[in-house]
Amino acid sequence: MDIKLLIDEIEELVTPVDNGSPLSGKEQSNVEIIHNAAILVNGEGKIVDYGKRDDVLKRYTLTPSTYVISGKGKTAIPGLVDPHTHLVYKGCRHWELERRLSGESYIDILKKGGGILSTVKNTREATEEDLYSLALKRLSIMLSYGTTSVEIKSGYGLSVDEEEKILRVVNKLRNNVKQKIARTFLGAHAVPVEFRDNPEGYVNLLIEKMLPRFKELADYVDVFLEDGAFNYEQTERILRASLSLGYRIKLHADEITDSKGACLAASLGAESADHLLYASDECLLKMRDSGTIGVLLPSTAYFLRKPFADARKMINLGVPVAIATDHNPGTSPLYSQALNMSFAVFFMGMMPAEALVAATLNAAYAIGLGKEVGSISKGKRADIVLLDAHSYMHLFYETGHNLVSTVILGGEVVYKRN
Ligand code: NIG
Ligand code: FE
Repeated sequence: MDIKLLIDEIEELVTPVDNGSPLSGKEQSNVEIIHNAAILVNGEGKIVDYGKRDDVLKRYTLTPSTYVISGKGKTAIPGLVDPHTHLVYKGCRHWELERRLSGESYIDILKKGGGILSTVKNTREATEEDLYSLALKRLSIMLSYGTTSVEIKSGYGLSVDEEEKILRVVNKLRNNVKQKIARTFLGAHAVPVEFRDNPEGYVNLLIEKMLPRFKELADYVDVFLEDGAFNYEQTERILRASLSLGYRIKLHADEITDSKGACLAASLGAESADHLLYASDECLLKMRDSGTIGVLLPSTAYFLRKPFADARKMINLGVPVAIATDHNPGTSPLYSQALNMSFAVFFMGMMPAEALVAATLNAAYAIGLGKEVGSISKGKRADIVLLDAHSYMHLFYETGHNLVSTVILGGEVVYKRN
């Protein structure tokens, strides 16, 4: 067996216990912690073995060509997975921050043509090349915080051509970067100004023209179900049409009001329902029964100064919970999943082990990558982050400090700090 890479003498290795499905309930905190560990990676960039270094090294013969990385004084965790971002956009909205801090609401700003619609204007004016380089830069910042897989949504185009332009950028990123990318079509992000008086016309355009046309460009379809965006009936129509075309589905659910989004996501078999600040217990239980993952976005609640989603309650109810940055210019200009894990622990009632699972294995399952990444397990892609810390607990203890020292993607070192 050809061992290409050995990560040796790792002070602490922490990984979700991977049983081939998302972890929920009491199992959400199932992590394996190994001290003085080693990880072996083969020529295909897959994990061959891991465990106590003395045991692992006994089982394999290394060759002079095996590359060795020292894990001395370091913690190894699986690469972080960010399962909900709106990464392709142009322009920022820092002036809205001041308006919101003075008391104006997010939805009021949107209804006045600001919010998502102002980013749509900037994004439509941008070239494909421009959008690509902006998104590429954002991905590389995320990498420096340890994020090795990212879901990217369209949704700042809102016309056939402009949504296609954004999805082409997403696909180009997917082909060119080493991070794993999941692709989501979110044409139903807002009703564009041209359809302000005819939202049904936009929903019809989306169903009749966009969905069939983007089949090769996206894996998932998502809808922003909310007062000021799309109503329950429109959302259901869009998601059913998506399912019949073979897309997988997700939903922005119950972010600002209880819109029964969690119930709808569960009844249609969505892979995730995201946000859930105002989801009712009744709908959360339906999510548990359908295995729909709750993707929580702590930094969005923080940035909008909203009450955080109750992760503790969801885990206690048995809903598999993941967390994501929601990176976007309006409600969460955050890059760091590590900081988000801290928010989840300090503001949402999660325990550190649960937050790690939420940002790795469960996050990977929320975007269809659970069998490939999200844990340090034999056969999985060697996406591994080394932290400058003797325990993963320092992710929470040293909140806000970037502990990432090395990022390995598919067995290759792609980022190293100083
Ligand atoms: O997830 N809620 C809808 N979409 C984003 C916000 C996008 C924006 O404001 O530009 C979110 O919060
Ligand atoms: Fe979002």
